[in-house]
Amino acid sequence: MTAPTGSLDGKVVIVTGGLGGIGAATARLLAGAGARVVVTDVVDDGGKDLAEELSGLRGEASFVPADLTDEAQVQALVQHAVDWFGRLDGAFNNAGVSQAGTPLVELTSEAFESVLRTNALSVFLCLKHQMAAMADGGSVVNTSSALGVMGALGQAGYIASKHAVCGLTRAAAVEGAERGIRVNAILPGVVDTPMQTAAHGSVDAQASQERARRLHLLGRMAEPQEVGHLARWLLSDEASFVTGALLPVEGGLLAGRRL
Ligand SMILES: NC(=O)c1ccc[n+]([C@@H]2O[C@H](COP(=O)([O-])OP(=O)(O)OC[C@H]3O[C@@H](n4cnc5c(N)ncnc54)[C@H](O)[C@@H]3O)[C@@H](O)[C@H]2O)c1
Repeated sequence: MTAPTGSLDGKVVIVTGGLGGIGAATARLLAGAGARVVVTDVVDDGGKDLAEELSGLRGEASFVPADLTDEAQVQALVQHAVDWFGRLDGAFNNAGVSQAGTPLVELTSEAFESVLRTNALSVFLCLKHQMAAMADGGSVVNTSSALGVMGALGQAGYIASKHAVCGLTRAAAVEGAERGIRVNAILPGVVDTPMQTAAHGSVDAQASQERARRLHLLGRMAEPQEVGHLARWLLSDEASFVTGALLPVEGGLLAGRRL
């Protein structure tokens, strides 16, 4: 029997930032669609439990801790996927950090470099080693942000890092095309995850909901799995003619405001 079109049956997929809100939700969707998932994160608290949970769905899974700003650790992560499962078909490069709100004129070069390293250098290193390991085509999805194509107050480092992810996505799509490797970016709006709580921890829940209502045409934050559904689709063969795309999943944030 052939696999359903949207399935990821047997595909080996790396998920970075896999213990965070969007990463864990997406890893569950991928495993549920039959993917063999290698979850990775810089923290390893709960990694083995998540891998066990994923293995109980339809696919096998494993957890590897790695700091993706370190090239040797990225190389070892990709090698683990190939050694463990025999191949690499896909990757969701989703790890990232937020930036404390700081006006550009007050932002230190250390803070700027730090967010660029975690959000952009890591994606470059992942693409470099993942694409080299994809022997039979593949699909890579990078998590940028609505702030990958627009500005906002007090977020110069984060915005620069997410614009860089969009640029890397297009560069990699061009270089991967001949080898059957598709590379796309997703651009979430505000998503209800630990990153969001950390960024707005001082704001009470009601103020946070009101801010999300004003920002998005759909009047609310996204749930992590609403972002994961788009990543899962891009990783599947259903998206076989989609590459180099920057796809918003932002409740209409980029489309306009209800004035
Ligand atoms: N939450 C939002 O509103 C939102 C909006 C747009 C884009 N994003 C992007 O979505 C992605 C996932 O964010 P999230 O909201 O799930 O946040 P999260 O904080 O829940 O998850 C991010 C994960 O990345 C991991 N990570 C951080 N630095 C790392 C490193 N050096 N090496 C390996 N892993 C590292 C963290 O440990 C964490 O588990 C990020 O790239 C973020 O910028 C989030």
